[in-house]
Amino acid sequence: MIIAPKIRGFICLTAHPDGCAQNVLNQINYVKSKGPIDGPKKVLVIGASTGFGLSSRITSAFGSNASTIGVYFEKPPAPGKTASAGWYNTAAFETQAHEAGLYAKSINGDAFSNEIKEKTLELIKADLGQIDLVIYSLASPKRVHPVTGVVHSSVLKPIGEVYTNKTVDFHTGIVSDISIQPAAGDDIENTIAVMGGEDWAMWIDELKAANLLAPGATTVAYSYIGPSLTEAVYRKGTIGRAKDHLEATAFEIADKLKDINGKAYVSVNKALVTQASSAIPVIPLYISLLYKIMKAEGIHEGCIEQIQRLFKDRLYTGAEVLTDDKGRIRVDDLEMRDDVQAQIAALWTEATTESLPEIGDLAGYKKDFLNLFGFDVAGVDYEADVNEMVEISGLV
Ligand code: NAI
Repeated sequence: MIIAPKIRGFICLTAHPDGCAQNVLNQINYVKSKGPIDGPKKVLVIGASTGFGLSSRITSAFGSNASTIGVYFEKPPAPGKTASAGWYNTAAFETQAHEAGLYAKSINGDAFSNEIKEKTLELIKADLGQIDLVIYSLASPKRVHPVTGVVHSSVLKPIGEVYTNKTVDFHTGIVSDISIQPAAGDDIENTIAVMGGEDWAMWIDELKAANLLAPGATTVAYSYIGPSLTEAVYRKGTIGRAKDHLEATAFEIADKLKDINGKAYVSVNKALVTQASSAIPVIPLYISLLYKIMKAEGIHEGCIEQIQRLFKDRLYTGAEVLTDDKGRIRVDDLEMRDDVQAQIAALWTEATTESLPEIGDLAGYKKDFLNLFGFDVAGVDYEADVNEMVEISGLV
């Protein structure tokens, strides 16, 4: 079929298999171009099909020749209906990994459930024995709690008072004020239940109890801080409470791993266009200004540049892992540079529908958004008839 983008708000209902494959290949080539990393050998990535998780899997495999198991929740294709982008990304990754002689298998299902955890544990037991790196990179709007059965929904709301600021509709380029009502009822608890650290700890507890973590094993989850401009809706909002919980969980996990000399970290990453971040109000305007400035300064990074740097310059340097005063690894250092943030703060006041295409990188934002679904990728023939029924070779 011939596949075009079908955009509804923050998502695109279609995905292009060739575009997704090209994106994956570009990431693989980037990692290879940066040389080998003396990194992990057997890796589990939870949330492995898009964004930072996909880049973590690619960096492990093509930077360190690691065997990888990926867990994700993606929609398979049906005749005349495309799969979700993460499905095609995974298909492309596993094809490339297998061609390179690397072990790569994956499990598609709800990572929050007992069933998927058990299935993953069985696979590790049968094929890899023990793993030495667990990346936790889930971004989900909801979680069915495996013990209580309660469905928790995460929300992106300020806490305490209404928050009003500028935002941009990145499809139309219209800059307008948006007011977001503060969290009410159980919003904070529910967001923590979905995006906090409880599920990460459950995974690590189960892996450890089954003796599937190698001595010295490391686990890393991803967090975000960002500037004061966005803090009311992000770091001091409901999602920020969940990130506080995730960061506190890293210390609890580290304690539990002491007997195997294991380590648990949170890495604070840069703001990037992903399926998760495009849904957060205000953030797209911030990102379009950020991209403009970081590109002008020659310090712009995407997911793969971030994760390759995390592995090579932070996690696997051979020396002790450097963290901030709260024990977090920082690869958001370039985003948070004082000069970068000062420029954004100045541009923020000037941003209007008319000025944004000039002072911000709205075009770069839109391109990255389309790229997430395999569209607007250089070298792909979008007029060509493509097979939507792509299979994932290592799907268990
Ligand atoms: P994403 O939306 O690109 O990826 C989410 C992944 O989770 C996908 O592989 C998806 O299949 C998987 N997933 C979602 N629900 C699932 C479920 N129930 N079971 C199994 N798999 C499931 O998200 P992104 O942006 O890469 O986020 C990953 C982490 O990085 C999150 O913790 C996010 O807060 C964090 N982060 C994101 C930043 C950004 O700007 N996008 C910045 C810094 C941190």
